[in-house]
Amino acid sequence: MTKKQQEPSGPEPSAVHSYTVSLHYDRRLYRQDIAGSIAHARMLARQGIMTDKDAELIGMGLVAIREEIERGEFPWRDELEDLHMNVEARLHERIGEVAGKLHTGRSRNDQVATAMRLYAKEACDKTLAGIRALQGALLKQAEANLTTVLPGYTHLQRAQPVLLAHHLLAYFHMLERDAERFRETRRRADVMPLGSAALAGAAYPLDRRWMAKELGFSAISKNSMDAISDRDFLLDYQAAAAIGMMHLSRLAEELVLWSSEEFGFVRLADAFTTGSSIMPQKRNPDFAELARGKTGRVYGHLVGLLTVLKGLPLTYNRDLQEDKEGFFDTADTLQATLEVFAPMIESMTVRAERMRQATEAGYMLATDLADYLARRGVPFRKAHGIVAELTKYAAATGKTYQQLSLEEYKKFSPDFAADVLEITEERSLAARDVPGGTAPERVAQALAEARKLLEAADGP
Ligand code: ARG
Repeated sequence: MTKKQQEPSGPEPSAVHSYTVSLHYDRRLYRQDIAGSIAHARMLARQGIMTDKDAELIGMGLVAIREEIERGEFPWRDELEDLHMNVEARLHERIGEVAGKLHTGRSRNDQVATAMRLYAKEACDKTLAGIRALQGALLKQAEANLTTVLPGYTHLQRAQPVLLAHHLLAYFHMLERDAERFRETRRRADVMPLGSAALAGAAYPLDRRWMAKELGFSAISKNSMDAISDRDFLLDYQAAAAIGMMHLSRLAEELVLWSSEEFGFVRLADAFTTGSSIMPQKRNPDFAELARGKTGRVYGHLVGLLTVLKGLPLTYNRDLQEDKEGFFDTADTLQATLEVFAPMIESMTVRAERMRQATEAGYMLATDLADYLARRGVPFRKAHGIVAELTKYAAATGKTYQQLSLEEYKKFSPDFAADVLEITEERSLAARDVPGGTAPERVAQALAEARKLLEAADGP
């Protein structure tokens, strides 16, 4: 009789065990984990806690294991639960008993916290590069569209003419704030937990600063209990990612609108649209829509991790293993979205004619007409009312402001004079000549500043 038949009420041992397994997602930490182990072994030898020969054997064994993993030949074993146990067991197979000395003065608790911080720092670097690439693409389109006018919207109603370059620069600045957040996230992740051991600190004279330098950390943690159980750096990343995806989702929504026939402001390159299987005329903006949709899971992971951490007593609890999947998925999703958006923005065709038509059709010079009257002494509130009446009349007669005669203007206010007919989109733009405004001069200056900012941001 098999064991299973003797204990019919118990679940399959493998099913129970699989509940604790993290190998399928934590194996992506192998480089960071092995780097941490090599630094630890070398430090142990430097401190005379281990012989140089043993440290060398361990180091060589770990390098060989890393290569094995990269060649896809590592014999992963689910029953060993996680990456750390897999590497250690394999090291034992390769170099024997000596492998056991690696864990002197160390615990999986400070080991995994260190690997996650190394990984998070790299994720910040990659994310920052992705942000810069998208900023570059936005800037290129903006520079190419310094004279392109389109309606600026409030309430999704045509409001005032703006330069397309001005509109695109708005996204540049959102991304600039995202970059700040990821630089700060990286700075906070840049603290090494190794030496904290299980929770109370290692009982050996470890040279923590030397290890930090070896691993490229700028600082060492100041409290072993905090170091073991802190995952704030992952929250920082995920919070910054949630905001970043929100920005990309807003840009995505504009692309969805702009590429529709109703707007017709841009045409997305073939690579970023798909056809319909039954409606041959369609060019669906799937990439933008997916980015909008994927924002949801990124928000979800942030709340997920906050909830994992909430109420956890110090120090390590197995709950902390649940920090990984959401974080990895968030980093993957954000980085992939940035990678798609840069070429999508760069390759989109701007339909400047359509933008101009929409600008002229929308009575968007209404504010300028009210300002015109205000400059002639009409209180602005009253001027606003006059222009509202004038606009109703123009709409009823199917005319644009430019098509109205001076006599028609004068019916609404004696303060209108011949020069009212000189109010154009270009004048309207030029009038917005404040720092941060859409006047062409100001936008040209803003573009130059943005270009400088981007060029200065060559490192994280
Ligand atoms: N896989 C574990 C995690 O990611 C490693 C740490 C395990 N430590 C422990 N005391 N069981 O959290």
